[in-house]
Amino acid sequence: MKTKLMKAVGRMPEDEDVMQEASRIIRSGGLVAIPTETVYGLAGNALDPSSSKKIYAAKGRPSDNPLIVHIADINDMNIIACDIPEKAFTLAEKFWPGPLTMILKKTDAVPFETTGGLDTVAVRMPSDEIAHEFIRLCGPFIAAPSANASGRPSCTTAEHVIEDLDGKIGLVIDGGQVGIGLESTIIDLTGDIPCLLRPGYISKDELEKTIGPIDVDPAVYNKNKKNIPPKAPGMKYRHYAPKGELSIVEGPVENVISYINGECQKASVNGKKCAVLATRETCRSYRCSLVIDLGNRDDEDTVSHNLFSSLRRCDEEGIDVIFSEAFEDSGLGSAIMNRLLKAAGNRVIKLPG
Ligand code: TXA
Ligand code: MG
Repeated sequence: MKTKLMKAVGRMPEDEDVMQEASRIIRSGGLVAIPTETVYGLAGNALDPSSSKKIYAAKGRPSDNPLIVHIADINDMNIIACDIPEKAFTLAEKFWPGPLTMILKKTDAVPFETTGGLDTVAVRMPSDEIAHEFIRLCGPFIAAPSANASGRPSCTTAEHVIEDLDGKIGLVIDGGQVGIGLESTIIDLTGDIPCLLRPGYISKDELEKTIGPIDVDPAVYNKNKKNIPPKAPGMKYRHYAPKGELSIVEGPVENVISYINGECQKASVNGKKCAVLATRETCRSYRCSLVIDLGNRDDEDTVSHNLFSSLRRCDEEGIDVIFSEAFEDSGLGSAIMNRLLKAAGNRVIKLPG
């Protein structure tokens, strides 16, 4: 299959040709990659089992890992979800459109192919203008996982999507680099107490200010000692992983710098290519051939925006060993650490203070 690449600006009628082509593909059961405010998504008709099967095949994704259904109008939520608790409407009112996904009980309208066999459905209303237009015209129910090949870092540009999915999907809509750079926050509202399944741009604090106390799935921060399967099936798979071996180094900053410099030196003696994921404050202190500046440590928006593209850059440069500084486990830092831990297969080196 030839994959088309078409640019969009997020304003009708400038995007009319792109949307017409996208609509033709979606209606004939095909797949289109779209920008959203979080990461690029791989879109298909959420109510068509064969479209969902094609999504799994294109990504190489296990079919027990459910897809998020994207909508553009809150009234559509009732068609795909039932027994919706009041808290879901409160959250939707406050955070939609935006980077929040809610798990709700599904209706019969949603095929099990889309929910990975579960009787719940993940629902999100993105704020990105291009995504919104696309869902309105090609939806109204669009299944869209992140548009990366399964296991790889999510895509923050159309070029990343082409790297992973060229020849496997009909069209990539190029809306430029996405804003947030990490996937949406996921909250499960099907139990007595709401439960955070995946941290994201909307923090636990913000959610609690809106609906009161919430639990956190133990799988989120590698605190899952009893090996209980994560409630978001996708969180059990190795994820976001670069090809090189990534370790997160925690401890006082001077110790982190000297440890990483020592390890990079050893690795290069052994003929290995090293990279460091650092912050603006520290990047000049590393002696390594590739030091990536993720942004100011206290500017977590920039760090999250740069994280996945930096992991992909390590692959492009053929890096064998990667060290990353650690981030604060609060606010957006929690989401950054969650993705880094998954990418590192939970390899954390804790240095004494
Ligand atoms: O920001 C995002 O959410 C992006 C953009 C494209 O919208 N999408 C995204 O989708 O990250 P994906 O498929 O890469 O991640 C969805 C996560 C997976 O971990 C999946 O297991 C979980 O959501 N999930 C989906 N439906 C679920 C359900 N019914 N119950 C529990 N977890 C669910
Ligand atoms: Mg994903």
